[in-house]
Amino acid sequence: MRKNIVAGNWKMNCDLSETENILRAIKNQLKPEHKDVEIMVAPAFTNLFPAVNALKDTQVKVAAQNLHQEENGAFTGEVSPQMIKSLGVETVILGHSERRQKFGEDLDVLKEKVDAALKNDFTIIFCIGESLEDRENDNHFSVVEKQLNKSLFQVKQEDWSNIILAYEPVWAIGTGKTASAEQAQEMHAHIRKVIADQYDEHTANGISILYGGSVKPHNAGEIFAKEDVDGGLIGGASLKAEDFFGIINAF
Ligand code: PGA
Repeated sequence: MRKNIVAGNWKMNCDLSETENILRAIKNQLKPEHKDVEIMVAPAFTNLFPAVNALKDTQVKVAAQNLHQEENGAFTGEVSPQMIKSLGVETVILGHSERRQKFGEDLDVLKEKVDAALKNDFTIIFCIGESLEDRENDNHFSVVEKQLNKSLFQVKQEDWSNIILAYEPVWAIGTGKTASAEQAQEMHAHIRKVIADQYDEHTANGISILYGGSVKPHNAGEIFAKEDVDGGLIGGASLKAEDFFGIINAF
C-alpha cells in the first residue's frame, strides 16, 4: 500500500555516542501528528542495535544500509540478512548509487541481494537513478528501466508489497543540486508506467516511490506535493533532527 515515507540514510556517519544523541533528538521531536508518516533511519551496521533499542517504543523504524546475499560463510567483513534480522531490523536499503559506484555492486549482485532480502522477509528500499552523463545524453529513462529490469523484475507480483523505490539521480546526491519537482514527478510517473507494463496498474499504483538527492526542509514541500512522489530518502539533512523533521513536516 502506498504510504508517505521519510527515510534518513546516515551513510558512514556517526559513532555510537553521536548516534545516541541523534536518536534522543529524534524522540524529542516526534509528535502525535507524525503518525501518518512512516519515518525510518538507517544507521551504520555497528549502530543498528542501539537504534532498535532506543526507538522500540516509537513509530520510527530502523533500516540497514546494505546486506550480503549469502546466509553465512567465508565472507570476511560482510553482514548477512539473518544477522540483521536478529537485531530486530526489518528494512534494508539496496542499490544505493554509492554501493553501485564505489563498491562495484552491479545489476546481477543487486538482483541476488533483492532475492535474499525478500527471502528473509525484509522490506527493501531499492534505489535507482541516472548519472549526470546519462541525463545529459537523454538516457535517464532507459538507465532506470534497465536497473528495474535486471535487478527487480524477477520478483513475484505479491513481493511488491515489500518494496519501496527511491529515485535518486546521482547528480543530485550530496551535491546541493536537487532535481526540480517536475523532473522528479516525470521520472516517478515513468517508473510507475514501466511497472504497470511489466506487472499491472494496481501493483504500480500501490508502490511508494521516494525521491532522494539534496532534499532539504526548504525544498521538500514542493517535491512531496507532486502526485507520484511519496516521500524522500534523505542523506545529509537526516543527520540533524531539526532538519530531518523540517522535511517530515513538509507533508
Ligand atoms: P543527500 O543524499 O540527501 O545528502 O543528497 C541522499 C542519498 O544519498 O540517499
